Amino acid sequence: MPDAFATFASRWLPDIESALDRLSASNDTLRQAMRYSLLLPGKRIRPLLVLAACEVCGGRPEAALPAAASVEMVHCFSLIHDDLPAMDDDDLRRGKPTNHKVYGDAQAILAGDALLALAFDVLAKNLPTDVAARCCGELASASVQMAEGQSIDIRGFDHPASQVELEHLHRLKTGVLIVCALRMGGIVAGAGDSQLEALMEYGWRVGLAFQIMDDLLDVTGDEAKAGKKLGKDAGKGKQTFPALLGVEGSRGYAERLIEEARGYCKALEQSDVLMGLAGSVVGREW
Ligand code: IPE
Ligand code: IPE
Ligand code: MG
Ligand code: MG
Ligand code: MG
Repeated sequence: MPDAFATFASRWLPDIESALDRLSASNDTLRQAMRYSLLLPGKRIRPLLVLAACEVCGGRPEAALPAAASVEMVHCFSLIHDDLPAMDDDDLRRGKPTNHKVYGDAQAILAGDALLALAFDVLAKNLPTDVAARCCGELASASVQMAEGQSIDIRGFDHPASQVELEHLHRLKTGVLIVCALRMGGIVAGAGDSQLEALMEYGWRVGLAFQIMDDLLDVTGDEAKAGKKLGKDAGKGKQTFPALLGVEGSRGYAERLIEEARGYCKALEQSDVLMGLAGSVVGREW
């Protein structure tokens, strides 16, 4: 029998794809570049987290589709810029040439800029005013922190990073957007403080485990499945979990974080989708 997360994902992924398509539609030339990266197949983990958090807090997932699309737009902007020559200099993403390889650096920078702004436009125009205002605040703070994380990642460290430093970096560049997705889903559902707290405790652990697995896949993964170039972190001098704890140590740590995350789900009723989603993070191959 498929687990609750697999069932939830097959129910909602088509709606997420059509929301991304509909909410990014326009005839402007720059839209082609924006939609090229946005509509290529991604895992849509952040939109799924928004919808699952909304449901676990008693809301209707469809009410959270604009928030789900908005966090994917910010994530996609971060990927387009992450791949630029001035950053990680990658030429493959989601199984296709990166945005700047197709449209050139300048258009890719602008496509990223516009996707970031479009995310807030979508929230402002498609949610009730009070919910939109709160979600805009959440997504804005998360975007600022993500950029801070990317800045630390690119500057690098002048010493071997400690586990505390690496976790700080991973939380900023990846964790905050994952926590933000969960909080926005909760806010759309009208969640109370204790529900938002539980979602955050869950999210920090899932987010950290997600980036540890990303680092691990860079070492052990299959490029065809990942849809991006692997084996690049070490050569670029990135400080990663496999470098710090080894492959097995990193996997074990990610698994422990996911167990802890699942523990926090117990504070939420009907949390089998979030439980399954957490489990999928350590099982992932892309
Ligand atoms: C890749 O994110 C970059 C990280 C923050 C680890 P994803 O692994 O979610 O990439 P897509 O969205 O599925 O392409
Ligand atoms: C990306 O981390 C984090 C963000 C885009 C914010 P990585 O640089 O490790 O992601 P990949 O491996 O290129 O997907
Ligand atoms: Mg990077
Ligand atoms: Mg990268
Ligand atoms: Mg990576």
